[in-house]
Amino acid sequence: MPLVTTTEMFKKAYEGGYAVGAFNVNNMEIIQGITEAGKELNAPLILQVSAGARKYANPTYLVKLVEAAEIETGLPIALHLDHGADFDICKDCVDGGFTSVMIDGSKYPFEENIALSKKVADYAHAHGVVVEAELGKLAGVEDDVKVNSEDAFYTDPDEVEEFVTRTGVDSLAIAIGTSHGAYKFKPGQDPKLRLDILEEVGRRLPGFPIVLHGASSVPQEFVDEINKYGGKMPNAIGIPESELRKAAKLAVCKINIDSDLRLAMTASIRKHFAEHPDHFDPRQYLGDGRAAIKAMVEHKIKDVLGCDGKA
Ligand code: G3H
Ligand code: 13P
Ligand code: ZN
Repeated sequence: MPLVTTTEMFKKAYEGGYAVGAFNVNNMEIIQGITEAGKELNAPLILQVSAGARKYANPTYLVKLVEAAEIETGLPIALHLDHGADFDICKDCVDGGFTSVMIDGSKYPFEENIALSKKVADYAHAHGVVVEAELGKLAGVEDDVKVNSEDAFYTDPDEVEEFVTRTGVDSLAIAIGTSHGAYKFKPGQDPKLRLDILEEVGRRLPGFPIVLHGASSVPQEFVDEINKYGGKMPNAIGIPESELRKAAKLAVCKINIDSDLRLAMTASIRKHFAEHPDHFDPRQYLGDGRAAIKAMVEHKIKDVLGCDGKA
């Protein structure tokens, strides 16, 4: 099957009370690790590419690698642009073989966000591509943009119906307490999500797929592993997996995970070098990195997203 849009995936996820994982990809080993896990568990997948990933790997390589993963696994796989900052990058991805794009107008005032998101939705829909937009601003780091927690704000449920109706977008990312990167909460803070806001958004938009960004759990054992093998990561706190399970049973159909993949890969490569200081063949340590990505994604699919067996 060719790469798919998220339309069918989200319909089944909404009705089935689970979410599909959207994993960030930057190179071949990451793509292979994620898709090998999906294949083993028969799970649908969204592979997402940020502007930074496009710059790092070159868009053509990433598109072709994702197409290769689809041929190898036969899974329903959507290729998604993560955090498209303007119309041009969204158009480039629509024209370049992506099946889904995100236009992130969350930094703009309401009317500007609507105008930009609608412009992207009109273009994408005319080309058979679906669109995610964002309302509400998350704290954390995206590409080179850092949003302080004082500048972040929760999504206002009073705005969602008008936003979705006027833009025509296919899914909506909302801010309910998640944030990008490994450092989501300060020690002593209660790492909870505003599930009450999610429930209210679900009431305002029945059947409509909601997206959670910044949803890595930052497992302590991976931070410990990195530090055990020479890393110097400060203690980090992520989103408890129990909170994400609850969100997946509500209207959330897409959960974005990047930082946990980075932690898993880095921990395994650090361990590899500590145990094999004589190794210099990249296949040896990148092979371990790929296996660590696969194990992390298997865990997410089974224990957090609930999308195993749903391909
Ligand atoms: O939301 C941001 C994602 O984690 C992608 O990160 O922009 O560093 O590729 P990046
Ligand atoms: P994390 O940094 O929590 O993994 O979030 C990733 C993300 O939202 C990508 O868009
Ligand atoms: Zn994000």
